[in-house]
Amino acid sequence: MSAPRFDRPLRVVQWTTGNIGRRSAHAILSRPDLELVGVYAHGADKVGRDAAELCGWPEPTGVRATDDLAALLALEPDACCYNPLWPDVDTLVRLLENGVNVCTSAAWITGGKQSPADRARIEDACARGGSSIFGSGAHPGMTNLVGMVLSGSCEHVDEVRITESVDCSTYESAGTQIAMGFSQDPATPGLAESVRRESEVFAESAAMMADAMGARLDRMTFDVTFTAATGDSDLGFMTIPEGTVAGVMGYHRGWVGERNVVSVGFNWTMGSHVDPPKPLAHGHVIQVFGRPNMRTVVQCLPPKDWAEPGYMGLGMIYTALPVTNAVPYVVAAEPGIVTLADLPPITGRIRA
Ligand SMILES: NC(=O)c1ccc[n+]([C@@H]2O[C@H](COP(=O)([O-])OP(=O)(O)OC[C@H]3O[C@@H](n4cnc5c(N)ncnc54)[C@H](OP(=O)(O)O)[C@@H]3O)[C@@H](O)[C@H]2O)c1
Repeated sequence: MSAPRFDRPLRVVQWTTGNIGRRSAHAILSRPDLELVGVYAHGADKVGRDAAELCGWPEPTGVRATDDLAALLALEPDACCYNPLWPDVDTLVRLLENGVNVCTSAAWITGGKQSPADRARIEDACARGGSSIFGSGAHPGMTNLVGMVLSGSCEHVDEVRITESVDCSTYESAGTQIAMGFSQDPATPGLAESVRRESEVFAESAAMMADAMGARLDRMTFDVTFTAATGDSDLGFMTIPEGTVAGVMGYHRGWVGERNVVSVGFNWTMGSHVDPPKPLAHGHVIQVFGRPNMRTVVQCLPPKDWAEPGYMGLGMIYTALPVTNAVPYVVAAEPGIVTLADLPPITGRIRA
């Protein structure tokens, strides 16, 4: 099945322009089949500013950021690329019930971690608005898709295990990092449970893979190891003092009886003073154990014309684009919650 085609550019709102949202806005502006019609700004300092300034586009777009949801709905967008730091169910409901298809990187793969009441509100909003919601990203997102595709080479599958194995020091989202335990006292009561809760979207992605491969999970578990910093690190946007969490390695695991059939997790470090339990692979390690075993490491590498020092900007493109590239597919989808297991493979576009 090829990408759906429309007889006009799809009208898209970009929701926030942080690390990921700014790459999404840039991508929308670069595509002839998408039109950036609005930008939502959470920060008061961004309201009224041109989208070009907020996402590093070379010429003014005439689209100014607003914090007025009603004004954005009045633009009658086909879709919203929704990339806030923290998602908000009330906002999602407003978008969906007004017919705006939502593509998001913000803690959504299947909606499985939502309360039954919130999930029902989302499904009801989709039904009333004739709209869909879809979540992806790099990890979770692209990694799960690659894992599911690799499993297609196997006579049988025992376990799919996906590990994000990276140094996160240049990922400037202090809110996200602190939520994942970094810079906290490793002995903080409830820290493991808090990291489980904050990273629960990985459990959604594990369940999605299991479902796609025909398994009915009995339960999900979470295990995590914290490693303390052996010295102080000042990362500019946050500090990791000696003795606080500088390494987090954990897995959300899905089980059929006593068999761990899907595992989605992370081996993350921050700062230069930490020895993680396992050496970093500097990429996404995707392993399928079965007959045969399959393994790949997805690495995001700079093209020749990449001028920015460090690779984090590329990592943000890698995270944003599985969501932004999904817009035509999600607009074409039947109303409701759609996942990576429901849609045809989402491709990028050949440069015009
Ligand atoms: N699946 C994946 O691979 C993956 C990877 C990384 C991150 N993510 C998720 O993607 C989302 C965006 O990540 P990011 O790195 O772009 O985040 P970010 O830059 O830290 O924040 C995104 C934007 O959220 C807005 N914001 C700030 N504080 C907020 C608050 N208290 N409530 C609501 N919005 C707030 C700001 O909007 P303004 O710019 O308008 O002020 C900010 O720029 C997060 O939900 C993150 O967990 C997914």
